[in-house]
Amino acid sequence: MTSTAFADPAGTWNQRFAADGFLFGTEPNAWLREHAGVWQPGQRVLSVADGEGRNSVWLARRGLQVDAFDISEVGVAKARRLAATHGVEVNFSVADCDGFAWPEAAYEGVAAIFVQFADPALRSRLFAHLRRCLRPGGTLVLQGYTPRQLEYRTGGPPIESHLYTEALLREAFADLDIVELRDYEADLAEGSGHHGRSALIGLVARRPAAAP
Ligand SMILES: C[S@@+](CC[C@H](N)C(=O)[O-])C[C@H]1O[C@@H](n2cnc3c(N)ncnc32)[C@H](O)[C@@H]1O
Repeated sequence: MTSTAFADPAGTWNQRFAADGFLFGTEPNAWLREHAGVWQPGQRVLSVADGEGRNSVWLARRGLQVDAFDISEVGVAKARRLAATHGVEVNFSVADCDGFAWPEAAYEGVAAIFVQFADPALRSRLFAHLRRCLRPGGTLVLQGYTPRQLEYRTGGPPIESHLYTEALLREAFADLDIVELRDYEADLAEGSGHHGRSALIGLVARRPAAAP
């Protein structure tokens, strides 16, 4: 990812998603697949910066009621077609994460998978939205890369300040109950965009239930 990617994210991602096929594949992210059992069919979830729809469509196929947004209209158009192919409905919108109309305490679940386009200032605003749009008792499932990924270069932005450590995530989500926080390595096969040995971090965290 170059600085142009951050100067013109919509243009950059539109160009990437204009290629044939699906940059990150059509199967869901592995961390999301492993942890989506925290949500029950019928519950409302949000897929943040959903790209070409692999995660939102899979969640909808599990019977969840899914909202999804992304800055790239090309990505969202492909996501709509993927949903139609599978005969499921997802409430898609094209939006920048600063411009999305984040509803307060609306979702039982939020999936934030590889949203490391965000520099520290944008990340702080984005993470605040992630926390606030969860209902009490709702669960966030988040996946990203750690700084060790700079050695692998098999996906993600090559900029250390965009990457996550356990300490960073613990501090950022201190007001949530951490269900699982795992710093690990794995061989990813998620399209050509995320492929090969990867230094990953996964978080599952729950907004505390409201006091009685
Ligand atoms: C690495 S991709 C991950 C896509 C998807 N979450 C997945 O796992 O397949 C990052 C996504 O962030 C989107 N994006 C980049 N900047 C954004 C912004 N400021 N607001 C919303 N989406 C953004 C891109 O269009 C792209 O789809």
